[in-house]
Amino acid sequence: MARTKLTTKKLAQRIDLSYFKRPHPFRRLRLILSVAAPLAAILWLGWYAFTRDNHVYSGGGVSTAHAILSTECNACHVKQAGSFSAKASNQGCESCHDGPIHHADQLFTPNCANCHEEHRGHSLLAATSNISCTQCHANLHTAGAATRFAQSVTRFDGDHPEFAALRLGSSDPGTIKFNHAVHLKHNLRGPSGLVDLDCQDCHRPAVANSALKYGAPASPETDSAPLSAHQPAIAEKSLPPSMDYRRAYMSPIAYAKHCVACHGLQFDPHFQESVPHDTPEVIHAFLMKKFQDYIPSHPSELRVAAPVPERDLPQKPLPIAFRILSQQQWVDLKVAESEQLLWRKTCAQCHALSFAKQSPFPLVAYSNITKRWFQHAVFDHDTHKLLKCVECHSQATTSRDTSDVLIPGIKTCQNCHHAGSNSAESRCFECHTYHDWANAKEVRGSFVLSRLGRGN
Ligand code: HEC
Ligand code: HEC
Ligand code: HEC
Ligand code: HEC
Ligand code: HEC
Ligand code: HEC
Ligand code: HEC
Ligand code: HEC
Ligand code: HEC
Ligand code: HEC
Repeated sequence: MARTKLTTKKLAQRIDLSYFKRPHPFRRLRLILSVAAPLAAILWLGWYAFTRDNHVYSGGGVSTAHAILSTECNACHVKQAGSFSAKASNQGCESCHDGPIHHADQLFTPNCANCHEEHRGHSLLAATSNISCTQCHANLHTAGAATRFAQSVTRFDGDHPEFAALRLGSSDPGTIKFNHAVHLKHNLRGPSGLVDLDCQDCHRPAVANSALKYGAPASPETDSAPLSAHQPAIAEKSLPPSMDYRRAYMSPIAYAKHCVACHGLQFDPHFQESVPHDTPEVIHAFLMKKFQDYIPSHPSELRVAAPVPERDLPQKPLPIAFRILSQQQWVDLKVAESEQLLWRKTCAQCHALSFAKQSPFPLVAYSNITKRWFQHAVFDHDTHKLLKCVECHSQATTSRDTSDVLIPGIKTCQNCHHAGSNSAESRCFECHTYHDWANAKEVRGSFVLSRLGRGN
């Protein structure tokens, strides 16, 4: 059927010009709503204002750690000119905790809220996105000269560099001689029979408190006073306050905790006991006293074999000559013999000793056992305790020299820490700190209970 063509005029005639003048149920409803809805909203907000609850303005609940602030918006949204600001101020955050800056030579300092996203519900605030780091690290520039670090790092399972300790030419700077392969072999001679040593007989985090099999009985002396005169400043200060370094890192090796039962420091057949594991000066004083106390009650021992005179030709054997020493001579002789044994053999098994002409005592090299291998990343053994030690420290069972580096490289970590949902976290915050916690200021609490307690 042919369609009749509609002219503009015909169309206009179809429109009811008095439509809006006629009453209609929908229009009445609209009128009622446009008055009632704002009224309801005002009453609703008024009620919240009256009860001092600020929930309604929020873009989402605050994070778990800040749950107590769910009604104290202006703890973070510090009022500007008396009104609510949708920007959280650094000053607000810093009234409760310090967030020390990353590096003095960074070109700018992002605001706290740039990395710590609030109102995302029950997520960890410290779980910052990679962008919060790559905004600088994709192309790193410093206020000073060229950067000392990799210029572009954007992904752990991509362009991230190998760890410094594993790069070519790195070695363990420790000076205690130790052969892992010898100690980990089957049926090692132990203090009372044959044993198979386990990594944990020597390596444990500081809080592990079950008895050490090859250590001296715990005493306040061995636990608190380190023998080393060169203990470096505690590296733990640079860790985030929430991290427990006593679980994260293995305690450094100590003779009194891990070696004493198998490696005694006996000095003379007259005595069962060992010299104290201490400096040569202390040991010398110990030896002097031991022999001085011994000889008055054993005078017969002052009679000693005289040194045999040197002869070029063998003649008929001489009768054994004896001589009688004074007590002082005897003590000096015995102390010298014991020290010869200790310095040249016993101590030298584990230490590098140097003998200077000016000093009667050798110098024991600083042990220099590394307590933290990653200076620029954190690690936590506790989180990884499901794994066998050798899965990460694969060279430990075959290493013969202290200088070998037994720390795992980046490939080992990438097995689990990579992109994807069935994997361990691989965003930067997992292993790095942004804040330089060694410079953190203590914050003094300034809130009163009437502001925070019994909210709702
Ligand atoms: C622990 C600190 C903290 C508290 C408490 C807090 N906020 Fe926020 N809020 C933030 C941060 C951080 C942002 C991100 C905005 C920015 O860039 O500064 C934000 C953003 C907002 C925004 C902008 C929209 C958005 O989601 O980005 C609104 C609206 C807001 N907050 C409302 C509130 C209200 C209402 C309360 C109280 C119930 C509240 N906030 C409590 C930290 C806080
Ligand atoms: C009224 C005090 C207060 C204010 C203001 C405050 N916080 Fe917190 N914050 C806390 C408390 C309490 C905790 C939990 C204990 C802790 O970890 O110190 C916490 C924990 C955190 C954590 C670690 C917990 C996690 O989930 O990772 C981060 C990060 C944090 N706050 C950042 C911020 C930022 C950023 C601001 C400002 C936008 C801010 N805080 C404002 C009190 C406050
Ligand atoms: C504002 C720019 C900036 C941001 C944002 C930034 N960095 Fe850095 N980062 C620097 C500078 C500058 C250096 C020091 C370079 C130098 O001294 O050669 C540095 C050094 C480092 C280093 C090596 C030295 C050290 O401190 O351990 C690591 C690791 C690092 N940043 C990780 C991160 C991570 C992880 C983030 C994100 C949470 C981040 N950075 C965010 C600028 C930034
Ligand atoms: C009898 C004690 C003893 C046992 C058992 C032992 N270690 Fe060690 N370990 C040491 C000593 C001493 C050092 C320090 C000297 C050195 O670096 O070789 C050390 C250092 C280390 C280091 C850090 C030094 C580096 O160069 O990387 C690692 C990692 C390590 N051991 C892993 C292991 C693992 C894994 C096992 C078990 C398979 C193990 N150790 C068993 C005594 C022991
Ligand atoms: C079985 C190995 C072993 C023997 C033997 C041994 N030591 Fe040690 N020594 C260690 C270890 C491990 C340390 C590291 C720190 C500790 O034990 O407190 C150490 C540390 C030291 C230190 C501190 C060095 C520093 O870091 O500044 C001195 C001093 C020392 N020993 C002296 C001696 C003397 C003297 C003897 C001999 C009488 C001796 N040691 C025998 C293993 C040994
Ligand atoms: C369970 C007993 C036992 C413990 C614990 C033990 N050792 Fe030994 N160690 C031995 C025995 C046995 C030998 C001799 C092995 C051999 O020659 O086959 C030895 C040998 C050594 C040697 C000489 C290695 C070589 O290459 O010949 C050094 C150095 C040494 N130990 C250091 C240490 C240090 C340091 C500790 C503590 C961290 C320690 N040992 C703990 C039993 C032990
Ligand atoms: C997931 C891999 C992994 C596993 C599993 C692991 N380690 Fe480690 N270990 C590391 C890393 C990474 C470091 C370097 C951490 C640092 O010092 O910054 C390290 C360091 C060490 C050190 C040097 C001291 C220290 O804490 O830095 C010793 C000793 C050690 N590990 C022993 C062990 C022993 C013993 C086990 C088993 C109980 C074990 N590790 C399991 C990765 C691992
Ligand atoms: C067997 C898999 C596995 C390997 C291999 C592994 N990790 Fe992890 N790592 C995990 C898991 C699982 C977590 C905890 C869950 C998470 O955060 O995703 C974790 C957590 C961590 C954390 C955070 C610790 C904490 O307590 O907050 C650091 C840092 C870390 N790993 C570093 C490393 C490094 C460095 C290596 C390599 C030397 C490594 N990991 C190797 C599985 C692994
Ligand atoms: C699974 C742990 C892990 C993750 C995730 C991770 N790193 Fe690292 N990163 C390390 C370790 C370990 C080192 C070595 C630290 C050292 O040698 O002291 C390191 C070293 C670095 C360095 C110093 C490199 C150099 O030149 O020596 C930078 C910069 C760095 N990381 C940035 C990042 C950035 C940016 C991210 C996120 C894109 C990231 N890292 C993610 C573990 C991690
Ligand atoms: C460039 C990103 C970035 C900025 C900007 C930033 N943070 Fe952080 N913050 C992090 C990362 C990553 C962590 C987790 C690792 C660490 O402790 O450094 C963290 C951790 C924290 C923690 C938890 C410490 C713990 O014990 O676990 C607090 C509190 C915190 N930040 C407060 C602040 C405050 C306050 C500001 C502003 C003055 C701020 N942050 C600015 C990235 C950032």
